[in-house]
Amino acid sequence: MQEKKKGEPSHETSAYERSAEEIICLDMLKEEIMHSSNYIARANTVSKNCIYSFFCVFLLYFNCIVGTIIKDIFALNVKAYDDTYEDEKSLHISKVEALIHCSMECLNQNRCVSYFYNGVSNTCILHEDPFTYTIRSQSGAGWKFYITIITDSGRCKPDFFYYRYLDLCYKFGVAINATDSTITTICSEPNEDLVRVDSEERQSYIETITADIGLVYKIAICIQGTSMLNSSHQWTFNDGTRMPYSKWAKGQPDANGTFIRMFRSYKYKWYSLVDDNMCSYICEYKYNDSI
Ligand SMILES: *[C@@H]1O[C@H](CO)[C@@H](O)[C@H](O)[C@H]1NC(C)=O
Ligand SMILES: *[C@@H]1O[C@H](CO)[C@@H](O)[C@H](O)[C@H]1NC(C)=O
Ligand SMILES: *[C@@H]1O[C@H](CO)[C@@H](O)[C@H](O)[C@H]1NC(C)=O
Repeated sequence: MQEKKKGEPSHETSAYERSAEEIICLDMLKEEIMHSSNYIARANTVSKNCIYSFFCVFLLYFNCIVGTIIKDIFALNVKAYDDTYEDEKSLHISKVEALIHCSMECLNQNRCVSYFYNGVSNTCILHEDPFTYTIRSQSGAGWKFYITIITDSGRCKPDFFYYRYLDLCYKFGVAINATDSTITTICSEPNEDLVRVDSEERQSYIETITADIGLVYKIAICIQGTSMLNSSHQWTFNDGTRMPYSKWAKGQPDANGTFIRMFRSYKYKWYSLVDDNMCSYICEYKYNDSI
């Protein structure tokens, strides 16, 4: 990995340090935030956060042993996004004293999924977008990007994003050749399914987080829906329940099927095309009431 400049301590990570590297963790039980980023943990002569970082390294180490890590919230620094940021469509922009306060602001805002923080200007920008399929239009020295990973009580999985505002735990999938048979092979882990777009808010959230997906996949996005469960072939979710919301294009649905294609190039309208065609997809991790 490439070494960064701007006064950061160098990273000669041992196995122990790697486990705590660039992670901010929150102990939800104590409702306080603690830094365990390698950067802050080592900058103990300059940072007033060093007391937190020390505790967090300790806490993480402890958690790894006793396996209580799922009770914590983490924010992971995505190094590939260093020195870029986005200030359009943000939830909130503020000046803060330190990274810890930016993290706290994100935690306290249930639409917050990620944040950019600039340690030079102490600027904090909160977003509801994980920036997987949206571009970061700005660049500048000192910006770092953090994505939250909230696995509290098993509600969400570590490799999924959690949008607390809509209680949506989701993951993006690659392009597949979508047919009734291939669609059953994706999102097939326990409690996973294609994303259920059951409200205007979910529809518009998906539109937000995939705004630039066309740069990667110029194809449809597959979402949940089937006409094969209802005796009169009406479209339902995969558990047979009625869809409270839909955004079918004019004349749609005009075919039976086991998934729905959402076309970004047609204002994200829904289509029930039967012909073999590619789509990328979004998986949802369903809440399991029995936990
Ligand atoms: C998808 O699969 C079908 C059947 O296997 C094939 O005929 C079709 O060409 C494939 N489409 C693409 C875009 O690969
Ligand atoms: C399924 O079909 C029945 C009639 O066969 C209809 O009364 C019912 O409303 C349909 N259910 C849904 C969820 O669309
Ligand atoms: C769905 O399948 C049923 C049964 O084969 C058929 O009667 C119906 O016309 C089909 N619907 C569409 C829109 O193709």
